[in-house]
Amino acid sequence: MNEEKYKIITINHLVNNKIINELDRLFSRYPTEDIYYKIENANTIKIYLNQLDFSDFKNTTTLRIHFIDDNTKLLLKKILTKIESIKSYGLKGRKRVYVGYDQERKVRNRKLKEVIRKKYYYAQDHNFSKKNNEVPKEFINKIIVGDSEEVLKKLPDNCIDLIFTSPPYNFGLDYENHKDGINWNEYFNKLFRIFKECIRVLKYGARIIVNVQPLFSDYIPIHHIISNFFMENKLIWKGEILWEKHNYNCKYTAWGSWKSPSNPYLKYTWEFLEIFSKGTLKHYGKQENADITADEFKKWVYAKWDIAPEYNMKKYGHPAMFPEELAERVIKLFSFRGDVVLDPFNGAGTTCVVAKRLGRKYIGIDISEEYCKKAEERLRSVLIQLPLFDKGGKKYE
Ligand SMILES: C[S@@+](CC[C@H](N)C(=O)[O-])C[C@H]1O[C@@H](n2cnc3c(N)ncnc32)[C@H](O)[C@@H]1O
Repeated sequence: MNEEKYKIITINHLVNNKIINELDRLFSRYPTEDIYYKIENANTIKIYLNQLDFSDFKNTTTLRIHFIDDNTKLLLKKILTKIESIKSYGLKGRKRVYVGYDQERKVRNRKLKEVIRKKYYYAQDHNFSKKNNEVPKEFINKIIVGDSEEVLKKLPDNCIDLIFTSPPYNFGLDYENHKDGINWNEYFNKLFRIFKECIRVLKYGARIIVNVQPLFSDYIPIHHIISNFFMENKLIWKGEILWEKHNYNCKYTAWGSWKSPSNPYLKYTWEFLEIFSKGTLKHYGKQENADITADEFKKWVYAKWDIAPEYNMKKYGHPAMFPEELAERVIKLFSFRGDVVLDPFNGAGTTCVVAKRLGRKYIGIDISEEYCKKAEERLRSVLIQLPLFDKGGKKYE
């Protein structure tokens, strides 16, 4: 048997005849090319694993548990737990493939080529300080009325763990205290002065995530212009999430040139979330403060999120809110419990409401006193949600 073809799992357990009989019975169900075992010595069993229909293996093993003595039962449980704890595998039909699934087929020397190409070359020569600071107490868990350009200047450098925000899109919406729909140059100049402050206050390794929808009818790719701004300012573009809302907002019947290629008008039912990191891609935090479950993680790292738009905007008296679920995914995927989350265009406070519920600290800034009052009102009724633990202190998945 070519042992290189297998992942080897070592189980320490006192071996006896009953155990050998049970292992023979169990492993004879599977081809030796897929899995087999060897008794290494009186205390050690080695399992050679290449590929396996794990749910079949689990069902069979679990069934046998009712017919065998406690010692053998314990061994089967150990085997099952060890195999189940292997989280990296490929899939081939119903089988999990444990060996060779991650081998490079098309690109040889991938790592070397990455070095030659220079990953995020545009952000390599940054001079961000690695020294992070605390947010002064008076700003923690506060909703602040004011122009973010001014308010942010009061915060020290490198003190915020995550910024999640949705700036005004310049569509011409009726905001309470902000003129939307101005000349594009004026719009971007103001936005970028605020974003410069955002970059300054981000910790080393922290992220800013900006939700935008371009004004397609003006042919202004806001999401690209914003991305260019952050890259020119040496942030690493970490990626982009497509927020599929499944709603088409365009009120006029516009397909452009109907049934003619002369000028068809493209329609969109989604918005973008652009993600940037300061200095490095890794954000420091203790694993025990991560509260995202395995299922959420697996689902949310696929960068297309189907989430319905916020339908309660009338209730909160704000014309352009994002839904709590969007903020929840962002906050759980990109921050730890106890982190400080900032929204410099806070509106009715969705980011802060979710941050509070998930045990993060929050700072929300909005130019409108009315929206800030709404946000405060919402925050008053938010209960902090504790992560679920079982009796052994292990987080429920
Ligand atoms: C798209 S809304 C954000 C809505 C928010 N995400 C929510 O779910 O409620 C943009 C907000 O930016 C605010 N705003 C506009 N200019 C601002 C500025 N210079 N400083 C702070 N807030 C500003 C507006 O009042 C508006 O509430």
